[in-house]
Amino acid sequence: MLRTPVVLITGASGEIGHGLITSLSAHNHRRIITLDVKALEPDLGKLVHQEVIGSILDVALLERILAEYEVDLVFHLAALLSTRSEFTPMAAHQVNVEGTLHLLEFAQRQGESHGRPVVFLYPSSIAAYGLPDLPTKDRAGRVLEDDYNTPSTMYGCNKLYCEHLGRYYARHYKRLAPETLAGKVDFRAIRFPGLISAVTVPSGGTSDFAPEMIHAAAQGKAFPCFARPDTRIPFMAMPDGVTALLQLAAAPHENLTRTVYNIGAFNPSAAEIEAIVRKAFPFAEISYQVDVKRQGILDSWPADVDDSAARHDWGFTPQYDLDRAFDEYLIPTIRQRYR
Ligand code: SER
Repeated sequence: MLRTPVVLITGASGEIGHGLITSLSAHNHRRIITLDVKALEPDLGKLVHQEVIGSILDVALLERILAEYEVDLVFHLAALLSTRSEFTPMAAHQVNVEGTLHLLEFAQRQGESHGRPVVFLYPSSIAAYGLPDLPTKDRAGRVLEDDYNTPSTMYGCNKLYCEHLGRYYARHYKRLAPETLAGKVDFRAIRFPGLISAVTVPSGGTSDFAPEMIHAAAQGKAFPCFARPDTRIPFMAMPDGVTALLQLAAAPHENLTRTVYNIGAFNPSAAEIEAIVRKAFPFAEISYQVDVKRQGILDSWPADVDDSAARHDWGFTPQYDLDRAFDEYLIPTIRQRYR
């Protein structure tokens, strides 16, 4: 029996999955299979061919998907975010590292069975960086992919290691075997900045102060911001994040000079975000109650990233700068949502 060619999305019920499923189902003729411990919202569920409820750690479940489908594109989105991972480092390692290893091995086996490389999209993060102190962060400015790779969170360590694992599968897998087995997994990672969606609210991240501030203001809820007003990290509107994943997935392999790419769009301070939010929602109740420990994580992330490799190799160009992200996407969509 012929297996059906499909795209597999893990962690599909999360924030990125939401936008990705909508976009993929509109533009891609391939059927979508999702795998998540949580069910999809019913409207999203209708867009996918099969929704598998289960864990990426369940090897038997992955075997069943392998037997039934011919997967040639994987978006491996399942992860525990940075704040949550700090409370449960063992669980973070299991999901973020062991889960990714299972998926890479799954992709390798898929590639070996149908003979074509499996394009494997991996969302990494600015958390893969670790700047030692604020003066260094100020001096560093726009960081390149290979600089300051000394993360100080469990999540950041997990992401950085999985970037290396992906490169290993893509370029060196079982390098001592007589036959060449590497290259069956075409691993491509994006180091995402903090993503801000108008239609979902994040949970368990450290960049969440920005989206939480906007969503709270739109609902008329008081928001005690856990980050200092001068906190500056890169952010991006979710539609640009989803487009970037799709663009990198579609890029010709020969154009890619790296397996990991930075992308950036805008990098306002918390106080600058507050000013924009107050303009849109004049009655917003925003105060600062700094959580010094979470602040420490934010201070270790770069103020900006150098994304020239992504722009050069696969044509990354964000459509939303700071003004457009707020004026044309976040504010109107969020207003509508809580009306
Ligand atoms: N935005 C994520 C977090 O804060 C980082 O990738 O955990």
